[in-house]
Amino acid sequence: MILIGLPKGRLYKEIRQLLKISGIDLKEDKRKLIFGSSEKNIQFSILRGWDIPKFVSYGAVDIGIVGKDVLLETDEENFFEVLDLEIGKCRLSLAAKEKKVSELAGSTIASKFPKETNKYLSENFIDAEIIELKGSIEIAPILGISDFIVDLVNTGNTLKENGLKEIKILKEISTRLIVNKSKFRTKNKEVKKFIQRIQSDKKY
Ligand code: PRP
Repeated sequence: MILIGLPKGRLYKEIRQLLKISGIDLKEDKRKLIFGSSEKNIQFSILRGWDIPKFVSYGAVDIGIVGKDVLLETDEENFFEVLDLEIGKCRLSLAAKEKKVSELAGSTIASKFPKETNKYLSENFIDAEIIELKGSIEIAPILGISDFIVDLVNTGNTLKENGLKEIKILKEISTRLIVNKSKFRTKNKEVKKFIQRIQSDKKY
């Protein structure tokens, strides 16, 4: 038996579709935290995306499906990132109202992605202050608590509606499959079988 953690929210629908194409139908049940599928040896659990690296690292779930944005920020390490599912594509970008990249030095940047923001700043020898927020990042420049933001951009509508412009793409993001390190060995056959199955069907 393998247990796979799926993120709730926007990605969930796309993942469910990918699984369906691979012939795996979820037997969702609103009252149950763990539910089965059309494959009798594969179970699923819906988790908060940001918690998935932890659940996988602890071996509580064998496999996790999660955005690369979350993996960039996690401190957990006890997993292998084995596959790019090429769904949930978006980008992690720097944005602002009017400001340019050349004005970053000495500025403030609001983000839910402090690690990746800090990486970009240090790689470019820029000294700026990162203000860590948990959500609604676009509001920060509007309310005047930051000059820039670093956030996920998909259609660009949220930026546009809030009078912000995408200035620079820091990272292309997509959905990844991660496997607990020891489960990769102890459940190798089942894990491999599942990976091969969704791998051969992901091009649609
Ligand atoms: C993400 C991101 C932006 C928005 C971008 O938020 O933080 O706010 O999507 O998408 P767009 O370019 O298509 O408008 P999400 O809805 O995932 O929730 P969050 O604000 O809690 O991060």
